[in-house]
Formats: sequence, structure tokens, C-alpha cells
Amino acid sequence: MRSDNQSQRRRRARTRRRKRPLLFAHCLYEEHHLLGPCRRFSAIIYRLAIMSSRTFFVGGNWKMNGDKKSLGDLITTLNTASLHDETEVVCGAPTVYLDFARSNLDARIGVAAQNCYKVAKGAFTGEISPAMIKDCGVEWVILGHSERRHVFGESDELIGQKVAHALESDLGVIACIGEKLEEREAGTTEEVVYAQTQAIADNVKDWSKVVLAYEPVWAIGTGKTASPEQAQEVHEKLREWIRANVSEAVADSVRIIYGGSVTGANCKELGSQNDVDGFLVGGASLKPEFVDIINARA
Ligand code: PGA
Repeated sequence: MRSDNQSQRRRRARTRRRKRPLLFAHCLYEEHHLLGPCRRFSAIIYRLAIMSSRTFFVGGNWKMNGDKKSLGDLITTLNTASLHDETEVVCGAPTVYLDFARSNLDARIGVAAQNCYKVAKGAFTGEISPAMIKDCGVEWVILGHSERRHVFGESDELIGQKVAHALESDLGVIACIGEKLEEREAGTTEEVVYAQTQAIADNVKDWSKVVLAYEPVWAIGTGKTASPEQAQEVHEKLREWIRANVSEAVADSVRIIYGGSVTGANCKELGSQNDVDGFLVGGASLKPEFVDIINARA
């Protein structure tokens, strides 16, 4: 098993390698005397370089599934699998298994809690805090998942407060957004996801620790995946929204991942879209095919 330090060194070296073409493409793009097709060509190269500069991110959301035996078997499969070196992998474990998952998963695989509360401690029966998550050696939390929003009634405001506190506590946040079927059919997808993103963005100072997960509610657990074009369309619009409302730099660097019935069979096509920087995977993350999804860009 690799140590944390080794993993960090490897990750830094990978980031340096990945940034080289980006720097080259940026210099080319800044050459303002290039005209017409040359300038358009350099813009395409620049966009592709930006895309490849974002580390592909695959999260598994185990939800309220599994036990020590089945999760232990899954962990063994992940620890011994050949995983694409350039992909960041994080598994979202049920609260009671966070310690178990962190102690048993290889250090190259991150662990996420599936929820947390908005303060460090206190009389909040049944809740857990970012401080407790960190105390288990866990570095991520999933917030705003559609099941938290629509089964447990969490509001944009509460999700924003949780995002702020988790980031202040130095956790990475996988922040989820997505429209319901009736909202898509009513043509309000953009309005809904922009409002959800605004409530998150209002609470983020440092975007380097945020991954945005676009998960259309109608695609979650239904076997009805968004087509690659549908996913790309929303991801691209979200990136443009971030460009206009947060900053150019954040728009270029933030990972926007897709969730909703991702499988080994559809991951390659979805993952080849310019603005799809990875996945949040529910059902398939509990199966060996999760390895194929991790390796979608391999
Ligand atoms: P699914 O779940 O892959 O089972 O559709 C995705 C999610 O809820 O994050």
C-alpha cells in the first residue's frame, strides 16, 4: 500500500505534467498576431488543453447499501484493480462505515461522507460534523444530493450553509444539483440548476476543493441515463454560468461531473464529452463494473 506522502508526490507530478500543454496552448492563444484559422485552431487547442488539465474524477455513492462483508469484498476488488493513474477516485460510504472504508481502502482512493451538518458539534441528534468526518481520516463529503433534497426536504439555504461549514473545516465537497423530470419537461432545467448552483457558489471561497455534480433527478437510479449530448449541454451551460458569475479561472478549472444511471456500458461516451469531467455513480459503484467506469478515460 502506498503512503499518503507518496500519493501526494505522484499527484503533484501528474498535475505538473498535465499543465505543460495548457501553458503551451495559452502562449499560442495569446499570440494576437495569429489571424483567422490559425487563431481558431489555437483556441480549439487551448480548450482541449484546459479540458485535459482537469483531473478526471469518479465518485462512488454507496448510499444506504452494503455491510462489512459486501463492502469489504468491494474494497478488495478496488484495492487490487488496475485503476487509471490519472483519475481521482472517491467512495461515498455510509456514516457508520466511514472508518471501516478509510482503514481498508488503498490510500490512492479517497473516501467521502454522504452528508454532514452545518456546525462543528452540539445537540443535533443523529447528525455528524465535518470535524468528525476528518477525525476518521476522511477528506470529502457529498452535499445536496437529490435524495437529501427531495426525500429529506433539504433546502438550497441549508445546503449552502453545509457547504460553507464543510469547506471551512477543510473537507472537499462534492456538491450536487439537478432538475426533476417535470422541471425538464417544463423547460426550466437551466433556471433550476443555476439557482441551485448560486446557493452553493454564494458559500464557496475556495473552489479548488469543490466538485460540482450535475445529476438530473429523472436519471438517478432509474436506468434512464441522460444522453451524452444532454449531459454535455447542461455541463457547458453550467461552465458558462460559472464564467459569468464566479470567474474565468474557476470556470476553466472546476470539475463538473455527471451522475444518473452511469454504467460500464455508457461511461466512455459520456466521459468523452468536453465538459464532463467525471461521474458520480450510485448503483454501479457497488459492482465490479465500477472499475470500468473509473477507467473510462484510460
Ligand atoms: P445511480 O445514482 O448511478 O444509481 O443512478 C447516482 C447518484 O445518486 O449519485
